[in-house]
Amino acid sequence: MAAIDVRKDFPILKRKVHEKKLIYLDSAATSQKPIQVINTITDFYKNYNTNIHRALHTLSDEATTLYETARKKIASFINANPEEIIFTKNATEGLNLLAFTFGKDRVKENDIILVTEMEHHSNLVPWQQLAKQQKAKLSFIPVTAEGKLDLETAENLLKQKPKLFAFTHVSNVLGTINPAKQLIELAKKYNVPTILDASQSVPHMPVDVRDLDCDFLVFSGHKMLGPTGIGVLYGKKQHLQNMNPFLTGGDMIKEVSYTETSWNDLPWKFEAGTPPIAEVIGLGAAVDYLQKIGMKSIQDHEQELTAYALEQLQKIKQVKIYGSQQEQIGVIAFNLADIHAHDLATVVDEEGIAIRSGHHCAQPLVEKLGVPATARMSFYIYTTKKDIDKAIKAIKKAKKVFKL
Ligand SMILES: Cc1ncc(COP(=O)(O)O)c(C=O)c1O
Repeated sequence: MAAIDVRKDFPILKRKVHEKKLIYLDSAATSQKPIQVINTITDFYKNYNTNIHRALHTLSDEATTLYETARKKIASFINANPEEIIFTKNATEGLNLLAFTFGKDRVKENDIILVTEMEHHSNLVPWQQLAKQQKAKLSFIPVTAEGKLDLETAENLLKQKPKLFAFTHVSNVLGTINPAKQLIELAKKYNVPTILDASQSVPHMPVDVRDLDCDFLVFSGHKMLGPTGIGVLYGKKQHLQNMNPFLTGGDMIKEVSYTETSWNDLPWKFEAGTPPIAEVIGLGAAVDYLQKIGMKSIQDHEQELTAYALEQLQKIKQVKIYGSQQEQIGVIAFNLADIHAHDLATVVDEEGIAIRSGHHCAQPLVEKLGVPATARMSFYIYTTKKDIDKAIKAIKKAKKVFKL
């Protein structure tokens, strides 16, 4: 794919920051939005806006069709059935939903919950809290010095039969692509249900839930060209059927009396209240856009950019790069000598370049790297080698500013 061809679709890339053309290298935090997604959302509000699943009037029927059609698109994008797709606010809410329902019913005193040392806070804090509530124990698959999961220890920990295993497909700090299929197979050997945090994989590479055979998977719409306020939880039908609802109220019910309620069918049992209608439809448009380019082309493009950026960064003697620099996609964490990453990001920003700095919502992992913070560049379909060249130039300028 050619990033140049898609850039025209992203109006924000035309703006300036500090009188320089914006270069956006923070797509792991959130992606920019193509005009096709923006137009789909405004078109909804201009022409179809009403509540769904409720009224019999034409507008409601049309809006419901748009919403449920988007669910079908999103389901097919990850090779799931529409009834296995639950709309949430974001990946974080999907993980909390699982902790408060599936997790709470399963995990009891002295049980083990297995995660890894490279989780985003969203896939750590809910399990940490559940472990505290249930007097259970949290175990961690270690991250090796190369920024990979220690697979030998993973098997030993799975042998201890944790009640569930939640892990990230791609690290939002190191960009490591974890061998998800292998880990899920291993978990199945010990009958351990798996929850995959696909927040950094679904936007950037082909993901097939049937092929992976995970029990659950979550991701956020805003990292994959869609709007904020929409996330996706995939769950195998038999799990979702057996689970209690997370939130209760309108739309998720079948029959209500003053004393009793029966639950709606899947997937609506988990979608209480008015859902983020425009956001779901917007995410459907984002999926159309991604599919037109092809997820394999997107992965190839980002892998090529990552290899190029790593090569250029390595040429700067004072740069330390974290992670394996293999099986890595779209994300690079680094520091410039002992300059604080916030100071580096500020100098780089003066050139109109947005990079992230801090602990990237994975504070324990960054502490394990032995630093308070790192800078992070992350890429997407609209990123070009020229963007990376400009970032490298800005880092070289920072070297001068900090007299390195
Ligand atoms: C790996 C990973 N998991 C979970 C999340 C949480 O996503 P959200 O804030 O959209 O819920 C992120 C966001 O950066 C992430 O990178």
